[in-house]
Amino acid sequence: MTAKRFKNPRAEHGFQGRSCSILSVGSYVPEKVLTNADLEKLVETTDDWITSRTGIKERRIAAENEFTSDMAAMAAQRAMHASGIKPEQIDLIIVATLTPDMMFPSTACLVQQKIGAKRAAAFDIEAACSGFIYALEIGQQFIMSRTYETVLVIGAEKLSTIVDWTDRNTCVLFGDGAGAAILQHRPNAHGLLTACMGADGEKSDLLFMPGGGSMCPATKNSVAAGLHYLRMDGKETFKNAVNAMHTAVKEALRRCELDITQIKCVIPHQANRRIIEAVGDRIGARPDQVFVNLNKYGNTSAASVAIALDEAVREGVVQRGDLVLMVVFGAGLTWAAAIIEW
Ligand code: ACO
Repeated sequence: MTAKRFKNPRAEHGFQGRSCSILSVGSYVPEKVLTNADLEKLVETTDDWITSRTGIKERRIAAENEFTSDMAAMAAQRAMHASGIKPEQIDLIIVATLTPDMMFPSTACLVQQKIGAKRAAAFDIEAACSGFIYALEIGQQFIMSRTYETVLVIGAEKLSTIVDWTDRNTCVLFGDGAGAAILQHRPNAHGLLTACMGADGEKSDLLFMPGGGSMCPATKNSVAAGLHYLRMDGKETFKNAVNAMHTAVKEALRRCELDITQIKCVIPHQANRRIIEAVGDRIGARPDQVFVNLNKYGNTSAASVAIALDEAVREGVVQRGDLVLMVVFGAGLTWAAAIIEW
């Protein structure tokens, strides 16, 4: 390693000598596989259409009695096992999800009970598919400010419960799963170098679920009208995703004075292969730099890049010391790009 591979933007904010490392990661996907052939029996679609338009071949669907908190707890336990962290060491649990078990209490509190992290504070955040990087950044702020030493960050979703299984425009895209990371202060490490986050509430109508909140609580009529299913303008979402992800990546690289060629692995939100290719082209990444697993899981929203990072680490694609670029996009609109020295 050369003396100066990159600039550490955290140092400019008075964080010299303090760093937030991702100690370990873990993930969980449910057993049940729903293939494109299975979907051909549910709606008017074909494997060829889904594969060519999205790159997705299959997705995982949680069991009826398996909830977001169960998948989150499984991913958390795997992450804890990977680094030998005990539940009682965890100071804070942050769960990013748009499909919590209930409106309240938070899914993070349910996870705290399930993994026995009795000392931990716990809360959820909601930034749709961008949630995992938003949560990483929040967790890292608690560590950099010396408030906490060990933070568990989770992205988890049971999207199968908010997908309209009669709508071919959306039901082929999504899947269930969870990914987790343990953050801890480590001297002489770099860890999470920067996270550039953004949002545009003016475009909140591109991707949303109208029912279930204070605006439209559940009634017989709201259920009959399908207001408790997600709605999406696919084409506009696609265009906005490519532009926002490109801009966020450029800013993250600029802050760290890095060139894309110095990045070992790009881990983009796994929504659509064509979005990933368009972003890859614009940022000048070689195809072999870009990690893709959406063929197996579809879009798992807040869990997406967390699952992908765990797989990239387990497959040896990402090794200690490598620079990893993660970039996400989702409803809100929200987006974020993060650079990590693994
Ligand atoms: N099978 C067959 N035909 C289909 C299907 C399907 N599953 N879905 C749509 N079609 C049809 C449409 O009805 C349309 O037919 P028409 O021309 O007769 O009206 C035709 O295929 C073309 O539809 P388009 O919308 O032009 O297809 P497009 O190439 O834009 O692909 C897609 C659609 C895959 C949804 C794409 O727009 C996309 O991926 N958008 C981004 C979605 C995304 O990333 N969302 C997640 C954001 S993250 C979050 O926060 C959850």
